Amino acid sequence: MYEVIIPAAGRGKRMGADRNKLLLELKGVPVIIHTLRVFEQDSSCSGIILAIHPEDRGTLEQLMQQYHITKVTHMAEGGAERQHSVYEGLKAATAEIVMVHDGARPFIKQTVMNELAEAAETNGAAIAAVPVKDTIKKVKNGIVTETVERSSLWSVQTPQAFQLELLLEAHKAAADSAYLGTDDASLVEKTGGKVAVIEADYDNIKLTTKEDLVFAEAILAKND
Ligand code: CTP
Ligand code: MG
Repeated sequence: MYEVIIPAAGRGKRMGADRNKLLLELKGVPVIIHTLRVFEQDSSCSGIILAIHPEDRGTLEQLMQQYHITKVTHMAEGGAERQHSVYEGLKAATAEIVMVHDGARPFIKQTVMNELAEAAETNGAAIAAVPVKDTIKKVKNGIVTETVERSSLWSVQTPQAFQLELLLEAHKAAADSAYLGTDDASLVEKTGGKVAVIEADYDNIKLTTKEDLVFAEAILAKND
């Protein structure tokens, strides 16, 4: 069994909508509900901790009632950065294994979550990722300085699964040194922890800009 922390406190600036992008609808259902349903339906998930912006509390409470989301045990107040929001959620966690999953990634698959939980039990931490498809080059002042060897490059997603104590210590250490990482695993890496990689799906996109809503509708249609 695991608990999941879902950071949902962002403002969705790059989406350019009039509200938190997680409240936008895909096929008539808010993005955050699509995401919550995956964990609501996973029998291995014992509880959901949401990190939210205080402005969204009323709307989210109403949506959870409307869509019969019953597993949310805490609604923690998020912070200025995603990392702060996760840390606030983490303080309410009690399960031995916790997952962190972006509210903005509604297409995560059950099989990947099972593999992540198992790998975190064995290794301490495990992340969902996909091999990089594009050729990646380093560029300085508009000129290529290097083509990076692609076979060792992975694009990292969420969920990321951890032993609770390990992630708590990593977040504490990051807070103490005012270190801001781009994901939770990087905080564990910084403390010398081992992070296993589980191959996930290219479908598991994060809704970031307006174009992603078009891709998202296509993924939903394909999965129907
Ligand atoms: N998030 C959060 N607290 C923050 C910032 C982000 O809980 N202070 C959450 C978002 O709600 C989202 C996830 O972290 O579910 C990934 O962040 P991102 O895609 O960057 O979302 P936003 O920060 O909302 O978007 P933007 O960066 O474009 O403003
Ligand atoms: Mg952001």
